[in-house]
Amino acid sequence: MAIHKVGVVGAGLMGSGIAQTCAQSGYETLVREISQPLLEKGLARIYDAWDMMASKGKLSAEQVAENRARLHGTLDLEEFADCDLVIEAVIENMEEKLRLFPALDKILQPEALILSNTSSLNITQMGAVTRRPEKVCGLHFFNPAPVMKLVEVVRTISTSDQTIAEVQEFARSLGKTPVLAKDTAGFIVNFLLIPYLIAAIRMLENGVASRDDIDTAMKLGCGYPMGPFTLLDYVGLDTTLWAAEAIYEEFKDPLYAPPPLLRRMVLSGMTGRKSGRGFYEY
Ligand code: 3HC
Repeated sequence: MAIHKVGVVGAGLMGSGIAQTCAQSGYETLVREISQPLLEKGLARIYDAWDMMASKGKLSAEQVAENRARLHGTLDLEEFADCDLVIEAVIENMEEKLRLFPALDKILQPEALILSNTSSLNITQMGAVTRRPEKVCGLHFFNPAPVMKLVEVVRTISTSDQTIAEVQEFARSLGKTPVLAKDTAGFIVNFLLIPYLIAAIRMLENGVASRDDIDTAMKLGCGYPMGPFTLLDYVGLDTTLWAAEAIYEEFKDPLYAPPPLLRRMVLSGMTGRKSGRGFYEY
């Protein structure tokens, strides 16, 4: 199947990064938000990234203009009617996704693929509310989506071999390396990453070491690009909490139980970089 036009639902941190990646990889890209201010914020983030790449000599002025011409914003889901592939990157709320998937199913051509960027919610359930569960799977990007080389292709019990092959090929066309995982909460990366982040928070709660020393230890001791608290702020404490809750819900393994401090920080609006305050201030 030839993919010409890609739809991205959601222009938040992940949605805008995914739309940027698709447009700069040569795809006609349509990104949808629920309000004009949110749409403008998402598009501005993408334009800023291209300007930054141009200032570093990674893109010519002509390439920036071509990328911009391929990227379109909308508030209207109906405009996705001629998209060959749609990536859902809305808030990690199952009710929201279960409203969106049947709506997309009605609007899209029967052969179009519907993918979810969810980090840990049940994709099988999202496919089950469409008439094309064999054309539904996960395509999970990592933050920052234009930079991180990995995508997880997530297979539900209903996804067809053909869909998986097409999505893997699409991922490669974006310059990404796909890995394949079954639809179980956390897939590969979050199943391993979330307990590590949670353990760092517990360590801080227990007074074992300071925030800065824990970050320094993991950066210099393990060669990680960011320590756990810098990464928590980068990914978003709310996103981390939702992922932990979803994996805990599925396996009931205490390893994934969100620590009290994480929940309280999210309840206080301290969600990390995006709100200006998390474990650090911005
Ligand atoms: N578009 C294009 N390029 C971008 C960009 C964007 N939006 N954002 C950053 N870049 C480029 C920069 O221009 C820079 O390019 P250069 O090396 O050629 O100059 C390069 O990316 C690195 O950026 P910076 O120089 O600003 O900063 P760093 O060298 O410190 O790298 C980082 C930043 C890539 C974020 C690095 O710190 C890192 O890899 N951190 C770990 C991130 C991580 O683990 N992400 C996964 C989180 S888990 C997740 O997302 C799953 C979810 O479900 C929870």
